[in-house]
Amino acid sequence: MNSPLRLGIAGLGTVGASLARLIETKRQTLEHRVGRSLTIAAVSARDASKDRGVDLSAARFFADPVALARDGEIDVFVELVGGSDGAALDSVRAALSRGIPVVTANKALLAYHGMALAELATANGTEILFEAAVAGGIPVIKTMREALSGNDVKRVYGILNGTCNYMLTRMEKEGIAFDDCLKDAQRLGYAEADPTFDIGGFDAGHKLALLTSLAFGCAIDLDSVFIEGIEAVTLDDIRAAAELGYRIKLLAVAQRTESGIEQRVHPAMVPAGSAIARVDGVTNAVAIDTDLLGSILLAGPGAGGNATASAVLSDIMDVATGFVPPTFGVPPEKLSPYRRARMRAHEGGYYIRLSVQDRVGAFASIAQRMAEHRISLESIVQRRAPGAAADTAAPVILITHETSEEAVRNALAAVSQDGHLTDEPKMIRIEPLK
Ligand code: NAP
Ligand code: HSE
Repeated sequence: MNSPLRLGIAGLGTVGASLARLIETKRQTLEHRVGRSLTIAAVSARDASKDRGVDLSAARFFADPVALARDGEIDVFVELVGGSDGAALDSVRAALSRGIPVVTANKALLAYHGMALAELATANGTEILFEAAVAGGIPVIKTMREALSGNDVKRVYGILNGTCNYMLTRMEKEGIAFDDCLKDAQRLGYAEADPTFDIGGFDAGHKLALLTSLAFGCAIDLDSVFIEGIEAVTLDDIRAAAELGYRIKLLAVAQRTESGIEQRVHPAMVPAGSAIARVDGVTNAVAIDTDLLGSILLAGPGAGGNATASAVLSDIMDVATGFVPPTFGVPPEKLSPYRRARMRAHEGGYYIRLSVQDRVGAFASIAQRMAEHRISLESIVQRRAPGAAADTAAPVILITHETSEEAVRNALAAVSQDGHLTDEPKMIRIEPLK
């Protein structure tokens, strides 16, 4: 057998502790597969005394992940601390600077600093592996980087945040309130340490920025990702979507357009019969449209300890066998500059919900504004609750035919200014998926 692979694991939370437990329970099989022993040589966490559900007494403990990364007795640094800066960034830099590979599940870190870190890795003859950073346990990074390397990707889209999908599913199926669903997602270990990253769409945005780079061979450009979260999605929207034959999902889409690459994360109404609509709970799904293969769909657990640790483990196994490909598929200097398509140029159908004061001329004025912006309406429905007083505001739902984001935003600004609304207008984009 070859020399042991000595692991330094920073972070022993949901993912780190699951990883340590998996290595201990599956050790024999794993070592047989890679042909060498795997040793958890050193670990780092804030609390040295916390029970992690696994015996780590043989591993040296470091309170500081940077000190662990600099330790000469580890061969690979596994970063499971989280956060785009601070201890995660400093420790990953320290490991790469001394030329040892880094395995991480940290999409925020890579979305912000991936280019600089990939350059640092290359300069020091090593790489970063990050299968667990996108879509939890689904092997989407290896699929895009290796299995599809002969294809040209036209579009990649899907459900990239388990917390939001879990919440939207429970809101729809059980009528449970937003905040209660979020608490359950946190209890189950799906949510980020700061859950606004999940519900605000930022976590999916970080993941999409990484997928975009792999899909189109371009530099990561997080600033160009249009991000809207699920905070404003209500049970009423979910019910209205169902009546119209849709389901609401937090969708992440990156696609080539004539003006550049569009990257967007937002709640979307997807046809109830589409494959994406059937992805429920913490499950993630990534659809990839390519020139040679047509469309493929990968689906599986998108968050949680074991699912994520499974992906981390696959990277560790690659390091153990010496398979350490370029971080983003090609050396960083070969990634093309990112060419951004403006979100305002996005075209599609829209669901619009207005809270309209019930008075003569309000409907006509709304229809007039839509016409002025060349927006063609598929339907317009007033959804007054049974028994509601005649002089209270009534929800009005508009469904548009295909139009531009620019037109919708301008029309809604004009409708707001006309003074017939009691609340900010709301819109959800309609995604005509199969
Ligand atoms: P977590 O449960 O909050 O665990 C974080 C770990 O890092 C804890 O063990 C904590 O120590 C340690 N830590 C935090 N700050 C530290 C510091 N300054 N110095 C030393 N140790 C520190 O997080 P997680 O859910 O496992 O997530 C870890 C990473 O995986 C994140 O990047 C996350 O985005 C990513 N990820 C998570 C999931 C998931 O389903 N949870 C899925 C995919 C990717 P203590 O335990 O002592 O407090
Ligand atoms: N908080 C993330 C999610 C973890 O819910 O998808 C997996 O990256």
